[in-house]
Amino acid sequence: EVPVVHTVEDMRAFVHARRAAGERIGLVPTMGALHAGHLSLVEEARRHADRVITTIFVNPTQFGPTEDFSRYPRTLAADCEKLASVSADLVFAPAVEEMYPEGFCTTVMLEGPAKADLEDRFRPTHFAGVATVVAKLLNQAQADIAVFGEKDYQQLLVIRHLARDLDIGTCILAGPTLRDPDGLAMSSRNIYLSAEDRARAPRLYRALSEAARRIGEGEVVGHVMGEAHEAIVGAGFDIDYVEARHADTLARVARRLEGPMRILAAARLGATRLIDNVAVPNT
Ligand code: PAJ
Repeated sequence: EVPVVHTVEDMRAFVHARRAAGERIGLVPTMGALHAGHLSLVEEARRHADRVITTIFVNPTQFGPTEDFSRYPRTLAADCEKLASVSADLVFAPAVEEMYPEGFCTTVMLEGPAKADLEDRFRPTHFAGVATVVAKLLNQAQADIAVFGEKDYQQLLVIRHLARDLDIGTCILAGPTLRDPDGLAMSSRNIYLSAEDRARAPRLYRALSEAARRIGEGEVVGHVMGEAHEAIVGAGFDIDYVEARHADTLARVARRLEGPMRILAAARLGATRLIDNVAVPNT
């Protein structure tokens, strides 16, 4: 059984007690509906900390007006069982009023990787909501380290900047994307895929991996990305974006590889939106 606290005060009491005992604290922020990808971040946090706190909070401010906030899966009891299996030490599951009390009126303003014309083009208020809630969680816990997934690559870069720019003393670590055996990146939203769409879904990752391999071998970026686009449309996806970018800044890249590159994509199968990304090797 993992203890669950619902208030900032109770979480801080835990942190202060463990710190007083000389322990290092790790934080893994999530929105719940946990899968093996989330649990791998808890295990990564454990490698760098003596105690791991997982936060479970479906953050309303990062959902757009037409997005799935109200029907986002909420499975606290099952999440706590999964967290017990990886020996998490505490769950922080605040209510919306605990995080956003009456009179709340502060939002983090972002530039740089938050304005890369990728996720932000389709979810214009998303990263302000993410950055604001992550700033709160990091300040509340004051952990030594916090782990975020490469699955949400643009988010990871936004959070790295946030921590650096606002002098948040928690070290931000990244965990690799966990995938189903057929390559589909694990996601809390995969449960919404029909059987037919679930069978098509791994073709997104396959197309990104193929494109990354070819660009890594020196082929012209525009040509390879055009073919990736075709392959993904051919698999039945409606594409939001499929782009090769600089891995650190998300700046657009020239014809051939120069510096570290990442291929990022968002595409829809029916009503389900999938996002994924891969590193370009040898860059
Ligand atoms: P959520 O989507 O629940 O994801 C929580 C963390 O798990 C994020 O860091 C995400 O990148 C990571 N993650 C998701 N799928 C993964 C996978 N297949 N393999 C490895 N890691 C994976 O991202 C959020 O919540 C929210 O925006 C949050 C940061 C908690 C702020 O509300």
